Amino acid sequence: MSKYITTPIYYVNGEAHIGHAYTTFIADTMTRYEKLKGNDTYFLTGTDEYGQKIEESAQKAGKPTQEFADEMSATFKTLWDNFDICYDKFIKTTDEDHKIGAQKAFEVMYAKGDIYKDFYEGHYCVSCETFFPETQLVDGEFCPDCGRTTSVVKEESYFFKLSKYEDKLLKLYENQPDFILPRSRANEVINFVKGGLHDLSVTRTSFTWGVKIPASLNDDKHVMYVWLDALLNYITALGYGKDDANMKYWPASTQFVGKDILRFHAIYWPAFLMSLDLPLPKHIAAHGWWTRNGEKMSKSKGNVIAPKDVADVYGAENLRYFMLREVPFGQDGDFSQRAFIDRINSELSNDLGNLLNRIIGMSSKYSDFEIDSVDVEKYHSKELDAMNETLASLDGFMQKMQTHRYLEELWKLFVIGNKAIEEHAPWVKMKEDKKDEALGTVALVANILAKASIMLSPIMPKTTATIADALNFKINNDSYKKLICDKKLLKLFNIKKVPPLFPRVEEPLMQEAPKAMPDDKPNDKMKEELLQKDDSGLIEIGQFFETSLKVGTIVEAEEVPKSKKLLKIQVDLGEESPRQVVAGIKEFYSAESLPGTQVCVVANLKPAKLMGMMSEGMLLAAKDEEGLCLVRPEKPKKAGTPIG
Ligand code: MSP
Repeated sequence: MSKYITTPIYYVNGEAHIGHAYTTFIADTMTRYEKLKGNDTYFLTGTDEYGQKIEESAQKAGKPTQEFADEMSATFKTLWDNFDICYDKFIKTTDEDHKIGAQKAFEVMYAKGDIYKDFYEGHYCVSCETFFPETQLVDGEFCPDCGRTTSVVKEESYFFKLSKYEDKLLKLYENQPDFILPRSRANEVINFVKGGLHDLSVTRTSFTWGVKIPASLNDDKHVMYVWLDALLNYITALGYGKDDANMKYWPASTQFVGKDILRFHAIYWPAFLMSLDLPLPKHIAAHGWWTRNGEKMSKSKGNVIAPKDVADVYGAENLRYFMLREVPFGQDGDFSQRAFIDRINSELSNDLGNLLNRIIGMSSKYSDFEIDSVDVEKYHSKELDAMNETLASLDGFMQKMQTHRYLEELWKLFVIGNKAIEEHAPWVKMKEDKKDEALGTVALVANILAKASIMLSPIMPKTTATIADALNFKINNDSYKKLICDKKLLKLFNIKKVPPLFPRVEEPLMQEAPKAMPDDKPNDKMKEELLQKDDSGLIEIGQFFETSLKVGTIVEAEEVPKSKKLLKIQVDLGEESPRQVVAGIKEFYSAESLPGTQVCVVANLKPAKLMGMMSEGMLLAAKDEEGLCLVRPEKPKKAGTPIG
């Protein structure tokens, strides 16, 4: 089966940061996972180089625009190469082939009557390359997305008949419920479309740094709107409009995007494809936003994290592991060195690294490094069953991009291995002259490590190759089929010593960012000001909307043993499965009284552990001297309905 996976193409007006790295890591992981399973997979990434914003950045840098774009694009490519990103193509939108393909697409849409010429007058944000109706502006002037000043622009423009596709798009979301992942994000898109779609201005005459519209239109003052040419990269990269041999990979299986650009990918993009009579991608998968120590990253705060800086001190694959383990796909994530160090020390070094060292140590003592799986079934059928059950559950998580759950499950294998060692104590068995049993346990753990390495390889390819080398096998589709699909065990081999894979980290290795200075650059500062508290203690509306409040329906509730205050509650928020929320309301509500009732939930809180249980949200409640009551909608509302 063939697969096609894409990242967004990155703007070349700034350097890559860990937000970009996250999109690329997750797409790379998915590609490696599909390849491991034997699927012919094509992976595209690249850079988005047209538009007024890039032209202006080049001017500021005092360089010709193409030279500036080439240089910046190369920094992305080098970065991904240093991270061993296994892309099949790195597209630059200034590539000749891309221009040809984009013009061809424009021609097709025009010939179909989906593009027509008219005038446009509106408020334009250069930074976001987007027009906004006056009603959406902040204080009648500022861009609602980035806070920068907009300007009134009137120009002749070609329009794409987006309005024509409103019903078709709504049908798409209905018939293909996994088109937008996570499903919880679909509502915002559907509501936007239901609110009515205006035709989209798809050309500009106010600047020249863009793909010219086709010569056949004889109107060479127009260049394409950057989002039109940018979205088309996903097909021009496969040769659309030229040599389209690679179009066999279309439609894309998964297109990864950040939540901020979901609208472009879930509305404009399928509409363009419908107009081109091309099939639609299977999934548009939108991830959340990364912050640093709870704060937005921005140049003016000086707290932007360059992926290379992190990789240099903590290790590139440790960073991949951390980012994919830390955040449920779709939710926002926070980069803090403390959280990163904790995961390196406890999960990578303790759980995985130590387990490998333990069996290398034992096999060197008991069997001169020889490992044989012959007695594993005899002594460890229980562990083998548990291991196989865990392995079988993994695919489901990866298919839904839930890398955090995938890794959480995968780590259960190390628990099985460690527990088997404690319970069977091979060193005691050796003293009791039960060498077969001792070696059976060592071999069990070697097999656990081998299988876990295969499944961890899409996330940590190099590290797992080293583990596989120690275990005398190679990670590829063959070993995947044998050890994972056919559940076979390793053949007799000699284990090799490896250098420490995950040295413990005792203290933060990077300097924390200094606090923002008062003389920050005006543009970025303006944006920050919109988002931050001023002296009056009042907040901007945007700050309020950073909290995602939703109506939830309680599905189950139970008491938390030994806790006076806590109830463990499962709340339906209209997502694939209910969320678990641990709430301190036991003194005021009995567990039996809650199922079926509705509550208001803070849905984008970082998950936390309370008495060892994960809590993935918070219930709103009001408390005074008379007690506590839950805040509920006045009338029943569908689970997941946003509040605000
Ligand atoms: N050029 C457009 C995409 C065109 S795709 C046809 C663009 N480029 S971007 O460089 O601004 O952003 C690229 C990706 O990086 C987006 O998916 C965006 O969501 C992601 N991120 C940028 N900052 C981010 C964080 N702080 N955290 C997570 N991802 C973020 O948009």
